[in-house]
Amino acid sequence: MDIMDKIYETGIVPVVVIEDAADAIPTAHALLAGGVNFMEITFRTACAAEAIQAVSEAVPEMIVGAGTVLNVRQAEMAVKAGAKFIVSPGFDKDTVIWCQERGIPVCPGCVTPSEIIAAINCGLSVIKFFPANIYGGIKAIKALSGVFGGVKFLPTGGVNAENIGEFASEKCIIAIGGSWVCTKKDIKEHNFDQITSLCHEAVEKIHAARN
Ligand code: 3PG
Repeated sequence: MDIMDKIYETGIVPVVVIEDAADAIPTAHALLAGGVNFMEITFRTACAAEAIQAVSEAVPEMIVGAGTVLNVRQAEMAVKAGAKFIVSPGFDKDTVIWCQERGIPVCPGCVTPSEIIAAINCGLSVIKFFPANIYGGIKAIKALSGVFGGVKFLPTGGVNAENIGEFASEKCIIAIGGSWVCTKKDIKEHNFDQITSLCHEAVEKIHAARN
């Protein structure tokens, strides 16, 4: 099973901002306890690579990737630290090609037809749609999907427990991304039980919406 099939199976990719690398491993365990074996650690903090490395070494059941990757340099740092996939808020062709040459799954953010065409022309079929709530939500994704039938979308940005069902019920959605199951505050305050229970709720809602 390739990583994109596994992402579909799990249904959710939590967007995780780690401010203290020591929080990375307990956060990974909290997500796993909630049925989520994916984790996108964002390159928004100085300790991102350290956090990815910690999870990759200590929690092998967790499929840890890097998010907010803006360029080849960050992709290189992330992969060196053990990232199994790369997510970006936008489309940078150099980063996409760098990942592809190394067999690293890459999911760039594309919200316009031109960006989606650029991704398709690089051979990609899974793209991030961010910020989903601002760029037209599920309505926009469905309209784009009518044209780009082979593309699967990973919506993030304003997706949460309230609206998750309207995204997850559509065939063109590979999985849902978001930070609500694993907020900076909950990580910082070590509310790991809360993270686990939000994950459980999200996974249940996603799988219910798909059926
Ligand atoms: C992302 O990087 O995908 C977003 O920060 C997630 O958006 P959210 O915080 O609204 O879930």
